[in-house]
Amino acid sequence: MTEKVKIAHISDLHFSGKQDRRQLDAFDRLLDHFNNAGFDHLVISGDLSNNADQGDWRLVKEKLEGHALYQWDKCTVIAGNHDVINLEEEMRFYNALNPLPLLRKSAFDRKLTDFSLFFQELITGEKDANKAFPFVKIINFPSMKIAITALNSVYPWYPADNPLGARGSITSGQLRALSLEHVLASLRECFVIGLCHHAYRVYGTDSLIDQAFDWTMELKNRDEFLAAMKVIKARVVLHGHFHRFQSYSVDGITFINGGSFRYSPRRYSELLIGKEGGIEQKFITLA
Ligand SMILES: [Fe+2]
Ligand SMILES: [Fe+2]
Repeated sequence: MTEKVKIAHISDLHFSGKQDRRQLDAFDRLLDHFNNAGFDHLVISGDLSNNADQGDWRLVKEKLEGHALYQWDKCTVIAGNHDVINLEEEMRFYNALNPLPLLRKSAFDRKLTDFSLFFQELITGEKDANKAFPFVKIINFPSMKIAITALNSVYPWYPADNPLGARGSITSGQLRALSLEHVLASLRECFVIGLCHHAYRVYGTDSLIDQAFDWTMELKNRDEFLAAMKVIKARVVLHGHFHRFQSYSVDGITFINGGSFRYSPRRYSELLIGKEGGIEQKFITLA
């Protein structure tokens, strides 16, 4: 093993049933590659399913198991909006019943809990713990400790405030939890990586159409999120959602968007972390 910790990052798989052989085969190829190339850890930053379907989560789980990657210290997954919100269903129910916002909120919470329970071996490392977000995973590598600090940024569908279910927000409870003294103490000796589904920065141009589009995709409280990332001294933040491979820097923190496996199944982000905390990041496309 080299001294550098080698992390692969992919996002936005948008699996849609097992009839899509091409996508499943491409996933096998990519996971094979991660194993052959000696990656230490794989991060998947949400939207595993296209239609909030547990069957798609199962496909991902089975593939990870088949490549011996379904292990707490080998892989981390979080939910994206498409894992939690089925837009068609939301709209159908809304039109039919106009259910109380509180009822819809509890259905949302249940789905997010379903996700956390489904992948709990990758979240808590235990079989029967019911742990929700945020979670902090500290992995001891021979050369350093890495802390992956994962937040849920998926925000319930609301007709006026979140019409496409694609706007994100991170609850204040999660942000507060990160600044607790015992959390900060446990992060102190680690190289800290932040993780959420939504982008800190969406594409953004001056055109009105882009701005209208950005509004439906944005992370509502991105400034609070950035402040929390500074509190925990995150060096890198990984995200997805906005299907574009890109990296950018904000106030000294490197943000990496893992793009979309669905649309570019041969492309991923490689992050190398050196012993002194130096990082090298690049996007790689398999031949
Ligand atoms: Fe997505
Ligand atoms: Fe998304």
